[in-house]
Amino acid sequence: MAVSKALMSKPRRIQFFDASRVTAVALAFAVTLFVATRSYADAVAPDTSAVGVHGMVVSESEDAARAGAEILKRGGNAIDAALATELAVGVTNPAACGIGGGGFMLIYIAKTHAFYALDYRETAPLQARPDMYMQAGKPNEDLARDGVLGVAVPGEIAGIDAALRRFGTMKFQQIAAPAEKLAGDGYLASPHLAGEIAQLAPKLKNDPGLSQVFLKPDGSTPKAGDLIVAKNLAATLKSLGDDPVTSFYHGEVAAALVAFMKAHSGLISSVDLANYRPDWRDPISHRYEDYEVYAMPPPSSGGVVLEMLGALDSGHLAGLGVNSPPYLARLIEVMRQGFIDREQYADPAFVGVQIQKLLTDENIQQLRERALHPKSAPSPAAAAHDHGTTNLLVADKDGDVVAITTTINTVFGAKLSVPALGIILNDEMDDFAVAPGVPNAYHLEGERANEVRGGKRPLSSMTPIIVTKNGAPVMTAGGSGGPTIISGVLQVALNILAFHLDATSAVAEPRIHEQAAPDVVIVEEAMPAATRSALEQMGYKLKVVPNLGAVGAITIAPGNFRGAADPRKGGGAVGY
Ligand code: DON
Repeated sequence: MAVSKALMSKPRRIQFFDASRVTAVALAFAVTLFVATRSYADAVAPDTSAVGVHGMVVSESEDAARAGAEILKRGGNAIDAALATELAVGVTNPAACGIGGGGFMLIYIAKTHAFYALDYRETAPLQARPDMYMQAGKPNEDLARDGVLGVAVPGEIAGIDAALRRFGTMKFQQIAAPAEKLAGDGYLASPHLAGEIAQLAPKLKNDPGLSQVFLKPDGSTPKAGDLIVAKNLAATLKSLGDDPVTSFYHGEVAAALVAFMKAHSGLISSVDLANYRPDWRDPISHRYEDYEVYAMPPPSSGGVVLEMLGALDSGHLAGLGVNSPPYLARLIEVMRQGFIDREQYADPAFVGVQIQKLLTDENIQQLRERALHPKSAPSPAAAAHDHGTTNLLVADKDGDVVAITTTINTVFGAKLSVPALGIILNDEMDDFAVAPGVPNAYHLEGERANEVRGGKRPLSSMTPIIVTKNGAPVMTAGGSGGPTIISGVLQVALNILAFHLDATSAVAEPRIHEQAAPDVVIVEEAMPAATRSALEQMGYKLKVVPNLGAVGAITIAPGNFRGAADPRKGGGAVGY
């Protein structure tokens, strides 16, 4: 971090844009709003940005970012570093992610100029049924969130193993070593984790494994900076050896997981674990101006971000400044239409998602038209935005780039752990439509396409992206925060690609979120009051919140990697 900080000169503009395309109006707005908001990033967490000459790691955990950067320094490639970071953040941000969860990985390999998309999302157990959350004729969505029926088959270890074997240069134990050390010796609770433990303490008390690790012997909660030790998790990671899939899905860990499920009337069986496979999928992409934006296909919502970006190409933003009211109005309408299209997204193995059709110029033009001539009437309601999930980004000296978003879903997942293993179980089943029209934890209303089925993967908002120009990566981004991942990644990408902000400023700018249902515009309180009242005068119903999710970004130019973790959640960017 010291080297990175020394290199920091707080530049405002990134290297790869064409300055002649920036209008005077956009520039004036950008400068004005930067002056208004720069203190946000600087004051809250000065270490969340860095500059690197050879590479960059950005994570929502500074310990984990350091672990990844160490791997790069020791000669590992971006894949080795990203997977080490992923395992480490599963230890230090255990409320958000871990080996009991699953995720998405987008990889760019420079040598072959090829993109890869790995889906290692959790999968519904074979015994899962569409009506499994109905009780006495009524849906009980709590069953999908807290407790054993919320748990889907974890994909994390299978995904890490698949990526490491295909593109890594190290063995599993080499990339797991930092995580094992953090878990075994302990790590200091971040302010974010301490807050989540305090908030969830009543539920953590009910689980022997969670209370043992995250509560003090007298039942009180640790403060930020207190040491947290997870010996059993360290031992489990060590026990996976260099062939982690064998143990986790077929061997000792599998047996312990299945015994736990049996004891708690859960549905996951040894067949579910043995059948689990990560899927290498074809990445999707769409042009944005002179850039090509790559994203995860369904069951990720990557296509929604591509649709929204396409509808907002800068021809349609000409003359509008970053976070100017007319820009935000356009953004709101495009987000609303994008989230309506999202209802068509689901697991492609079960539902014929017409992803290529959704990404045609014709569909994007129609989305833009619907956004320019909106018909829907606002209906106020609040959306839930907790901070489970984690995103991490790595770019290395050879040009390889990895963007990962991974989760156990809501904070502390199903609020259940397997004590002897130290594994916290996900509640990813809540990402299915628990019943048609019943909103999930993120107030996303489910449709038939995303109904529960055995062996199916639930629709996700997680959407890491990598952007190229003239065939070379120029930026990567991703986030956490349920559906605000989609709107957050969109805004950070636009801040960089359309408004030409550097990574730190692009991430720090205040954000908005609109997801069609509930049809209310959620605005961060850092958005200037004049901007908020301008939106209200346009007729938008606003809900003001402290912050919306967390988005990280790296801008990439030869010898110049600029990384920013989101000060809203903390974490770190470590360059070298
Ligand atoms: O995959 C999804 O869309 C959710 N499980 C993500 C959850 C999340 O980001 C938690 N933070 N709010």
